[in-house]
Amino acid sequence: MKIKYEDIESNYSRKVSHEHRKKYAQFFTPYPIAELMAAWLLKNEHLKTVLEPAFGLGVFSHALLAKKNDLVIKGFEIDELISSEASQHFDGLTKVQILLQDYMYNDWENKYDGIICNPPYFKFHDYDNRSMIAEMERKLSCKLNGFTNLYTLFLLKSLYQLQPDGRCAYLVPSEFMNSDYGKLVKSHLIKTKTLRHVIVFDFEKNIFDDAMTTACIILCAKDNYSDSVRFTNISSFEELWKVEKLIADYPKTSIPLKTYKMDELDSEAKWKKYYQDQNGKKFKSLVPFSKYAKVVRGIATGANDYFTFNLSKAKEFHIDEQYLLPCICKCTDIKGQVFNMDDFELLKALDKKVFLLNATQAIDPNVRCYLTKGESEGIDKKYLTASRNPWFALEKRPPAPIWVSVFNRKGLRFIRNYANVANLTTFHCVYPQNNLFSDISIDLLFAYLLTDTARMIFEDNAREYGNGLRKFEPNDLNKGMMIDLALLTSEQKTAMENYYTEYVKTNELRWVEKMNELLNDAFAC
Ligand SMILES: C[S@@+](CC[C@H](N)C(=O)[O-])C[C@H]1O[C@@H](n2cnc3c(N)ncnc32)[C@H](O)[C@@H]1O
Repeated sequence: MKIKYEDIESNYSRKVSHEHRKKYAQFFTPYPIAELMAAWLLKNEHLKTVLEPAFGLGVFSHALLAKKNDLVIKGFEIDELISSEASQHFDGLTKVQILLQDYMYNDWENKYDGIICNPPYFKFHDYDNRSMIAEMERKLSCKLNGFTNLYTLFLLKSLYQLQPDGRCAYLVPSEFMNSDYGKLVKSHLIKTKTLRHVIVFDFEKNIFDDAMTTACIILCAKDNYSDSVRFTNISSFEELWKVEKLIADYPKTSIPLKTYKMDELDSEAKWKKYYQDQNGKKFKSLVPFSKYAKVVRGIATGANDYFTFNLSKAKEFHIDEQYLLPCICKCTDIKGQVFNMDDFELLKALDKKVFLLNATQAIDPNVRCYLTKGESEGIDKKYLTASRNPWFALEKRPPAPIWVSVFNRKGLRFIRNYANVANLTTFHCVYPQNNLFSDISIDLLFAYLLTDTARMIFEDNAREYGNGLRKFEPNDLNKGMMIDLALLTSEQKTAMENYYTEYVKTNELRWVEKMNELLNDAFAC
């Protein structure tokens, strides 16, 4: 009796350690999703040859052969263990060939009617990215970003191997659509006019073990229907019928989807705006944040352990406080949203690292001695220090009146820096801009930044990392939008400032709520 695919997978997962699976990025495609992706390939009535570049246990081949048993399938797999397990279940099928080879370095000369894959997810430092990127650049005559994740390279190669009229289905993290390293793959999907559908999974629960939280299916075709690209959001397994329907109806569609002209898509932009309802649309009178503030990253030392000090380290090396720059080095040292001198003094007293060595005029013998120690440890030869003159000079960053946290799971966190101390890269610096035509105080700007309204609108411009982690680079914020505070009446401005004063005094969230209500009343569409 033929064994069910799900049983093959659970037998393998039982036998093989988690470490082994992690080493090869073996996260398996749920069978119903594999069936859908297979349906996309099978809709090509000339489908004969199929490539499965990251074979694993061959979920896609199982789904394809269940519907069409005369397909000629070639699979690539680098793990001998999984490959020998998989091949047992294709015994007797001479038309299924599993090669124990690295897909990226092989098979460039062959083209296929169908390519179907859930590629390995490896960050740039987890695979031999230099030689692989060099190989890709040679073959595709393009320039790749060194931070590229392996899965985007798989996709680029597969697009290259697609036969005219061929179809390709890839299951990938949706992260590439909103990150810098994904720009090339996005522009390739547009340039080759192969992209047809993007199906984004917004499942509450993770569908792929603990590998990633956001995933999408990319459906491509090398046919003549290259006018439009459709984005669909799926929030549960129950909604998979939508995908089934759009595949069955292709190239027509009977369900309303977010459809864009191929040449409307911008590879430089975050594609979130094509598939996610933008929070900004809920408000009127938005302007770029850069109208009122400039965001730059905090101080990068190039050797934090060496440059940061607490009082006991200063005592140990006899460094006088005049050679130490007050500086917040760790995000976790800041608890609330307002940071003042008393908070700073408390951190000092707790012996937290809240200073940076500031030795530009290094004539003091103790400072000299500490610099010599740094040189003997090679601190002066590090990537950042070696490019500075002198190597121990700090980057010039005046203390920013507002900080914003860089990584976050719960949304942006802005902090008002009344203590006037500097910050490392754990925060970005927010410098309010003098604006001749509008009179916005720093406190009013900060009061706004405390509100959910502000954070919600910024979220439209976040970039995603694996595991639900979101990050804002300084430019994501500069280019993010905000409500034009200049349009508040003077009464509304005063009210906002008063709520803010009460919030600082009491630390009660109801005052932030009041600010939120005021903004909603004035600006919600
Ligand atoms: C994410 S899993 C997907 C497995 C299967 N296709 C599925 O969807 O369930 C990726 C598979 O690719 C294999 N793999 C990793 N790097 C590879 C490479 N460079 N060439 C070929 N296979 C590779 C891994 O061993 C793993 O089995």
